[in-house]
Amino acid sequence: MKITFTEKRDQKAEVVAVLVDHKGKLSVGAQDFDKATGGAIKSAVKASTFGGKSGQMLDIVAPAKVPVSRIVLIGIGDPKKFSTRSAEDAGGRLVGRAKGVGAKSVHLYADAIAGCDLSSAEIAAHFAYGATLKSYTFHQYFTTGDKAKKPSLIKLVVVTGESRKARSSFSIFEKIAQGVFLTRDLVSEPANVIYPESLAKKCKELEKLGVRVDVLSEKRMRDLGMNALLGVGQGSARESRVVVMEWNGLNTPKSKKAKLGPVAIVGKGVTFDSGGISLKPGGGMEMMKWDMGGSATVIGLMKALAGREAKAHVVGIVGLVENMPSGTAQRPGDVVTSMSGQTIEVINTDAEGRLVLADVLHYTQKHFKPRLMIDLATLTGAIITSLGNEYAGMFSNNDELCDALFAAGEAESEKVWRMPMSSGYDKMINSQIADMKNVGAGAKAGSITAAQFLKRYIIDDTPWAHLDIAGTAWNDTEKPTVPKGGAGYGVRLLNRFIADNHEK
Ligand code: BES
Ligand code: MN
Ligand code: ZN
Repeated sequence: MKITFTEKRDQKAEVVAVLVDHKGKLSVGAQDFDKATGGAIKSAVKASTFGGKSGQMLDIVAPAKVPVSRIVLIGIGDPKKFSTRSAEDAGGRLVGRAKGVGAKSVHLYADAIAGCDLSSAEIAAHFAYGATLKSYTFHQYFTTGDKAKKPSLIKLVVVTGESRKARSSFSIFEKIAQGVFLTRDLVSEPANVIYPESLAKKCKELEKLGVRVDVLSEKRMRDLGMNALLGVGQGSARESRVVVMEWNGLNTPKSKKAKLGPVAIVGKGVTFDSGGISLKPGGGMEMMKWDMGGSATVIGLMKALAGREAKAHVVGIVGLVENMPSGTAQRPGDVVTSMSGQTIEVINTDAEGRLVLADVLHYTQKHFKPRLMIDLATLTGAIITSLGNEYAGMFSNNDELCDALFAAGEAESEKVWRMPMSSGYDKMINSQIADMKNVGAGAKAGSITAAQFLKRYIIDDTPWAHLDIAGTAWNDTEKPTVPKGGAGYGVRLLNRFIADNHEK
């Protein structure tokens, strides 16, 4: 979908979309247009149950007086409560509606709304952002039918009196959306296409944006002692990989930079999680192609940061393995020595994500001395039991970091909810024969014991947060700006976290 911004209001259009508040009041641009239609919009509002509430939409056939075929009324609710996020949702909903009626192009009148704090430029840019996010499709495997064809909606024209400002804000949102799209693509791809080596190749493509990308081979990992990670991958015919991506958008001299390490973002990248010898049941196992969702978020985030040339120093590190059962697979009861030197009794080979992260978290701290570290992982089914698909679980040793992540999550509607950690939970992973075991006690506090396991790999109270995204990486039900499928969750959250707290 191509998006343009223009100040010209009087043009021919297939569909014109206008904003209407909860009292039926039209924006200034829409009022003029209403006059041109002979009052068709106002009378449509009166004659229908459409109350201009946020989320509502009404689709009418335009009168012959205007060179337009249909008019879409978008409810914005109370203008005082109309936020940038509401504009994004409205943009997303409009795209959904336009697709539904097979429209090729839509003109949106995004002028200022009486009683609303947002400028026309802000409304226009965020509207376009939401529309872009919703326009995403993953259709490349359809060879016949409607989905095999190019999407019908090809053009969105956003009409605003501040087109230059809107265009310039949107140019940044567009870069973030490209990161979100990459994450969605990677999550949606099947495991015969995305496996550790092919995913590492996708990371390499970020080099052309100025990201430094280093791929660790199995030999290198063995030399480093990453036996916890390698143990997970040893049953697979595919080799494992760790990929280090570094974006440094600071132009400060080296000495200054050294004072404060980079922000480090770590991702679980299990390209397929069969469970290994502790094999998962067959029903729903296909979902485990997206067990690399944490790594996909990290990769998409790096693309967004590099794309918008963020003034920040960020390293993204992903542990990529395939968890398969075979004659060479790790057995329940095996003991491995992680890179940190701590030993782990592997009780359940399906609790593999924490084994991968143990080594990647340790490596990240050793090599980068980060100012803080955030990991993302589709780590436990238990977090879906706790929080459903609304919030990701957040586990942390640092209140300030939690507050900043919480605020970023609310602002971007990629929400996080802090969960408890304590020494009592920590005891639950003590092993009889090694430093720790990789599961807690049956069904008790499964997400927390997983987080306690990771915490044992945090050195010297490095500020750290673990986000369990098992419930948020994949989208089962359509949302205004997120189509079904790979959600791209976390890219906007972390982009905002970095922009608000770690830039310049
Ligand atoms: N990848 C899964 C967690 C998961 C489940 C993600 C459902 C997305 C949807 C993880 O590796 C896993 O298998 N966890 C086990 C842990 C258990 C064996 C302690 C789980 O949640 O059942
Ligand atoms: Mn598993
Ligand atoms: Zn897993």
